[in-house]
Amino acid sequence: MIKIAPSILNADFGRLAEQIHGVEKGGADWIHLDVMDGHFVPNITIGPMVVEAVRRITRLPLDVHLMISDADRYLPDFKAAGADLLTVHVEASPHLWRTLETIRELGARVGVTLNPATPLTVLLPVLHLVDLVLIMSVEPGFGGQKFIPMARERIRQLAAWRQARGDAYLIEVDGGMDTTTVPQVVADGADVLVIGKAIFSQPDLTAAVKKYRQLLQV
Ligand code: DX5
Ligand code: ZN
Repeated sequence: MIKIAPSILNADFGRLAEQIHGVEKGGADWIHLDVMDGHFVPNITIGPMVVEAVRRITRLPLDVHLMISDADRYLPDFKAAGADLLTVHVEASPHLWRTLETIRELGARVGVTLNPATPLTVLLPVLHLVDLVLIMSVEPGFGGQKFIPMARERIRQLAAWRQARGDAYLIEVDGGMDTTTVPQVVADGADVLVIGKAIFSQPDLTAAVKKYRQLLQV
């Protein structure tokens, strides 16, 4: 079953609880939270305080995408705030093995991701350590960007490695998901779809998530 993880990056933060309940009612599987530090990426978003606030208003798993330098320093804070899954960028993690081990030791599920132009082979030494690989289909930093088609080939490559090696991680895709790209990446092997603007730009968030759920059933 394909999972839908609405990204709250484009939510109305003044009505965050109401909007999260809206996507929850539509059948969202996870809530995707984009943490940006103005250093690794050119935007500043949320920190552990907001993750904790979201934790209090939903039971859905919190999928926390860390776009920050020195993630090691903040991993315990995000776990304590209620993150179920912590995903780090290979470009911001000079000691990737240790970082992934730390996430595991903290008791969170382990995610790893990479920017669209980073060679996928950088993942080969750590694939056995992770629960999820996030394929970025835009440069991280902002919602509402255009899907980079090269991401499709990367999803297919990763799915082929997974099968060949007998690994069990989920493949998540983030950036530019809409009614055209969702069926494409699912055909390529994606298991989890991060959908931001295509949901949060709609007047009825429940209906917006339902629309994607239906699209996945046909
Ligand atoms: C981008 C973020 C995404 C973003 C996706 O840096 O990681 O999660 O919210 O937004 P859309 O779906 O609008 O491309
Ligand atoms: Zn994200």
